[in-house]
Amino acid sequence: GFRNMLHLRGTPPMPLVQKFIMGALLTCIMMVFYCFSAKQAQMNVQMVSHGTPCIQSEKQNDFNISQRTKGQERSCVAKVNLMFMKTHKTASSTLLNILLRFGQKHRLKIALPNGRNDFMYPSPFLCSHVKDYRPGKCFNLICNHMRFNGPEVDKLLPGDAVYFTILKNPADLFESSFHYYHRLVPFTWQIPGDNKLAEFLRDPRLYFTPAGYNSFYLRNLLFFDFGYDNNMEPEDPKVIKAIQNMDKRFQLVLMAEYFEESLILLKDILCWEMEDLLFFKLNVRKDSSVSQLSRELKIKALEWNGADWMLYQYFNATFWRKVEAYGHKRMQKDVRELRRRNAEMETVCIEGREAVEPKRIRDTNMMPWQPLGERSIMGYNMRNDIPPQYKESCRNMLTPEIQYLSDLGVNLWVTRLWGWFKDRFVWLF
Ligand SMILES: *[C@@H]1O[C@H](CO)[C@@H](O)[C@H](O)[C@H]1NC(C)=O
Ligand SMILES: *[C@@H]1O[C@H](CO)[C@@H](O)[C@H](O)[C@H]1NC(C)=O
Repeated sequence: GFRNMLHLRGTPPMPLVQKFIMGALLTCIMMVFYCFSAKQAQMNVQMVSHGTPCIQSEKQNDFNISQRTKGQERSCVAKVNLMFMKTHKTASSTLLNILLRFGQKHRLKIALPNGRNDFMYPSPFLCSHVKDYRPGKCFNLICNHMRFNGPEVDKLLPGDAVYFTILKNPADLFESSFHYYHRLVPFTWQIPGDNKLAEFLRDPRLYFTPAGYNSFYLRNLLFFDFGYDNNMEPEDPKVIKAIQNMDKRFQLVLMAEYFEESLILLKDILCWEMEDLLFFKLNVRKDSSVSQLSRELKIKALEWNGADWMLYQYFNATFWRKVEAYGHKRMQKDVRELRRRNAEMETVCIEGREAVEPKRIRDTNMMPWQPLGERSIMGYNMRNDIPPQYKESCRNMLTPEIQYLSDLGVNLWVTRLWGWFKDRFVWLF
């Protein structure tokens, strides 16, 4: 049943009365959301934590990997205690898939959400959001969407956990977030014209209400995801302070624009194997819906997201210093190798070797979640003739986030309910 719910149907013809009743119902639901929004705005940035840190009972999940580096054998122990801060609209779904597969392969204890596919985002993360959490219990891996709350996350993982995250250029991130979420942000409903994004950026303060429901999606979303106030101006000394705190906490900050290079750096600090990095791009928008921002709009978007822009520039610099230290030649060679192996897997797993539009995806298990009022997120058809030894890898690599979590035993009733409404009442928006 659930799988069918994810499947997008065309708008069914409905009698007028029924339409009216459904419209009224949805309005009520939106009003309930509104009531929550005031509370949520006041809840900004309360990073508090009480209670017990986790205590690792026995030596868990250590496994040795022999890596070949320039002809010599190098042995190291793969890191399995991992915190991935999944930011929004940054290719993080592809990374999530990599991590879930790694977790499954090594039977790691994954801290999963409960009832939905995130940890009660946009509320700050609490351990109690984790499925089967008990005080003192340790997990190896946490990687679903959350609003970061350091002290709480620390309690969940052993002391040697590696924290990492991924960023994207804030102008592109803003464009992507606007496309994906604007229908969920009520103040955008009054923006006139066909190109709402351009109109918004012409004079953001005319429309933007900081305390408005879901408004964080449209300003400094990265700052918000990391648990900070997203309405700080870039000149605010708290901005640089926040960035420095993040630099202390996250050992590695990846760049969506250099995804393969990022993975190679990750492999290096985690002592993983190339095989662990193989991926297909998930949750990609179809070209026709990816608008290229003009130079002028890009500048405006960066101004509007000034705090995120500072954050991005700071970690862009640390990223390239790490590439430098790794060695550019060595990096090029490894990226080529990763691309070659990804291409190999594409040939083995994917029909036609590329992503297709939602209407061309045959198996609903392979249908990615679609934004409200759009069917723009592409997915894949799996080949019918995959050799048996590749079947499971192919399936896991291609399975979208919601279905993957469901397979891992997460009960997704909230997400499911919202999906049901979303797909049936798109005509209201
Ligand atoms: C991993 O290798 C180290 C050093 O070679 C060794 O001391 C350790 O026991 C090994 N661990 C496992 C789980 O094999
Ligand atoms: C990121 O860093 C590289 C290398 O220093 C530089 O060439 C590039 O312009 C930077 N990008 C941004 C957006 O700052």
